[in-house]
Amino acid sequence: SRHLIGLHDMPRERMLALLDRAQHFADGHDNRAALAGIAVCTLFFEPSTRTRLSFQLAAQRLGADVLNFDASTSSTSKGETARDTLKTIEAMGVHGFIVRAREDGAVAALAAEANPGTALINAGDGRSAHPTQGLLDMLTLRQAKGPDFPQLKVLIVGDVKHSRVARSDLHALRTLGTGEIRVCGPQALLPDDDTLRGCTVSHDFDAALEGVDVLMMLRLQRERMEEGRVSSLDDYHRDYGLTTERLARAAADAVVMHPGPMNRGVEITDEVADGPRSLVLRQVGNGVAVRMAVLEALLGHPR
Ligand code: CP
Repeated sequence: SRHLIGLHDMPRERMLALLDRAQHFADGHDNRAALAGIAVCTLFFEPSTRTRLSFQLAAQRLGADVLNFDASTSSTSKGETARDTLKTIEAMGVHGFIVRAREDGAVAALAAEANPGTALINAGDGRSAHPTQGLLDMLTLRQAKGPDFPQLKVLIVGDVKHSRVARSDLHALRTLGTGEIRVCGPQALLPDDDTLRGCTVSHDFDAALEGVDVLMMLRLQRERMEEGRVSSLDDYHRDYGLTTERLARAAADAVVMHPGPMNRGVEITDEVADGPRSLVLRQVGNGVAVRMAVLEALLGHPR
């Protein structure tokens, strides 16, 4: 497909090719001719810092003309629909859209309305998917631990229920053949559909940590939560917060990831977030490289 909606249907070979290309960009190469003369637009109906800015930088490093649409200061506030917004910007000759939406499936629905030559990239829709975050997490993991995913024990912790990042990470980890995927969190924050198929599920963080190579901490998504899912932030931190003491239960060379933004003092302490095992800022940096690889693949010459 000319769109990137999720990682559920991405073949392993395509994922590896994107990661290899992203590593090339992460090593300092660019390709300023790739998107010369092509206009792309970041179309965000939900807030973002990392995803939006790294896509803008990635598109600029590929030579694209970059537009930035912000729902809060646009005619969306006058009631214009997402479809009319897409069609309006397409009419200006824009061929690439990086879309973040509040509703599950909204980016796929918009892609179905796009012109044949247009490419949409999902930059996060509801709880469903955040494919470039999944890819940048795999690139970061591969840099830190090497390409032998079958040797790895990965633990995903926290609010999986509301997390599009966790869903995309799970698809990618399975595609790359990760040895063991553990998932840990309170029952109320774990999904009850097939999201966790093949995972070892636990509610005991200390037990789940034993021997893991990689910890993927998730943000507690209070804005997507119905009342009462978490009794108190103090209780959540006591049971599922990552502290230096807890981290000692994992493998001696375990690394810590978090997609950001972090609730410091809730799911992760300052000491861990800013400590030597943290890959949080490496993830951010890799976001630019991965987004260059995706934009080049979908929109680069020749198309
Ligand atoms: N990780 C992530 O998607 O961050 P932003 O919401 O800041 O883009």
